[in-house]
Amino acid sequence: MTEIELIAHALETLGPYVMERRADREHLGISSKSHANDLLTEVDIETQRRIVALIGAAFPGDAIVGEEEGYARYPDEPGARAWIIDPIDGTQNFVRSLLPEFGISIAFARGNELLAGGVAFPGTGDVFLAERGAGASRNGRPIRVSAVASLALARVELDFDGPPKRQPTLDRARALLLNGGQVRCHCAAVLGLCSIASGDADAYVHVSLRPWDYAAGLLLAEEAGGASSDLSGHPVRVFGENDGLLVSNGRIHEELLTHLRRA
Ligand code: IPD
Ligand code: CA
Ligand code: CA
Repeated sequence: MTEIELIAHALETLGPYVMERRADREHLGISSKSHANDLLTEVDIETQRRIVALIGAAFPGDAIVGEEEGYARYPDEPGARAWIIDPIDGTQNFVRSLLPEFGISIAFARGNELLAGGVAFPGTGDVFLAERGAGASRNGRPIRVSAVASLALARVELDFDGPPKRQPTLDRARALLLNGGQVRCHCAAVLGLCSIASGDADAYVHVSLRPWDYAAGLLLAEEAGGASSDLSGHPVRVFGENDGLLVSNGRIHEELLTHLRRA
């Protein structure tokens, strides 16, 4: 089994489990982590456990970096084979939202180089997959970023965290709200990033994310022809310090950076 095959298999088997649990929203086993809006459910934990078990069986010895249960540690060894898991990205939307705007995200990297990744949206059944150098697909069909060439016509996905990080978001949001064609906030990193990959959005902005939030979605957007940097224009280092994340269709990247740097 190759890495991308494992990712595809995990996403396809876990999507139905996650939806089955969401159908009984009274019994998700909800708790909070760093603050009251940072939610965790039993489904996040069980989904991560199942992904960890699949990886452990197929690729024993690989590092596993995941959001939950003590896996939130970056590999010590540079260039290590590492899997990066967000069992549910958009947990707030998983717990409480009319639309199921959340996803399961799995990526494989060697050091900071993302090599394979996939995101499943169990609510729609969509599965996005990408391998470095081989393009990106949605449900088996190749996808490309949009051709929108100016911020004034762009659809921008602005994403943000709980109250502790709102001020830096606000500083950047002003420039986007004043200059972007449309600004949307779905608050699920996977949704924003896959929307860039599929051409349904033109830019995604966040002031502070962790690798499990964006690893698979970033590879998908890049393989669909998109561009990425941090908000200062520096390359993104998956296991390094970044000044937020900017992912776009490429054509409006410099224009976005001009506004974001000024903010
Ligand atoms: C969150 C989502 C959200 C982003 C937050 C993340 P979670 O992940 O990606 O879009 O704004 O910063 O923590 O907690 O739902 O996995
Ligand atoms: Ca997340
Ligand atoms: Ca999560």
